[in-house]
Amino acid sequence: MALGKLYGIGVGPGAPDLVTLRAYNLIRSLPVLAVPRPNPYASSLAFRIMSPHIDPEHKQEHLFLEFPMTKDPEILIPAWNKAFAEIETVLKRGEDIGFVTQGDPFLYSTFIYVHDTLKEKYPELSIEVVPGVSSVMAVPIVAGMPLVDGQERLAVIPASYGLESIRRALQDFDAIVLMKVSSVIEGLITLLEEEGLLDAAYYVERATTDEQRIVRDLRELRGNRCIYFSMVVINKKTRSGVLKGHKSAEVSHGHHA
Ligand SMILES: C[S@@+](CC[C@H](N)C(=O)[O-])C[C@H]1O[C@@H](n2cnc3c(N)ncnc32)[C@H](O)[C@@H]1O
Repeated sequence: MALGKLYGIGVGPGAPDLVTLRAYNLIRSLPVLAVPRPNPYASSLAFRIMSPHIDPEHKQEHLFLEFPMTKDPEILIPAWNKAFAEIETVLKRGEDIGFVTQGDPFLYSTFIYVHDTLKEKYPELSIEVVPGVSSVMAVPIVAGMPLVDGQERLAVIPASYGLESIRRALQDFDAIVLMKVSSVIEGLITLLEEEGLLDAAYYVERATTDEQRIVRDLRELRGNRCIYFSMVVINKKTRSGVLKGHKSAEVSHGHHA
């Protein structure tokens, strides 16, 4: 029997009305939806986002798959293999399955491992990925802070990678989006203080959800635990507005977007 089709469905940063129409239609119509979660006791943000869109009249299976938040291969590899096997079972039944993922599926998402593993194992597998509004886009919007303009250079970095790489990025880029900041927040505040960039930074957690929190003075975060769904953005703004006061060729010809 032909394999079913695998969909990677981005459901956006948190607000259910930031789900795209394409994702909405798939959430309501696919026979099986796979929902990643870190463990059986944790709630899945992706599931909370898509829940209001589920069609109660449509018969649909929800497959909760465990993707533990650890780098320990002894825990990770068996858990992933189990999750992949459950997806394969559905595909081998000839049924389509949608793997829902928070934000965008190709940006630091568990879906990437599912995609790469199954694509390698089944080169004939049909895969469709539905982009989602990423937190990288949503966080500056909720903070009302334009991200980059003109000649500015943007870097997106998992902060958990280490403070030294952040220090280098602060030299080379104009706007830096730091994902997964929760474990390094104290060191990050000290680093930004040393670099004189504390006032250029802001912190947002659970952007676009009912529990959204925006902190414009990072010093307030000292001594507090940060949650996983949190981000720090640094806007140096030393190069922004390069066109201010200049009339570009496009503007004078009326083609400027
Ligand atoms: C595994 S990555 C997933 C990113 C996701 N695929 C995306 O496109 O937004 C998780 C990290 O994304 C960031 N993040 C995701 N959603 C967020 C939100 N609503 N508010 C703030 N940060 C968020 C946090 O930095 C979190 O540690």
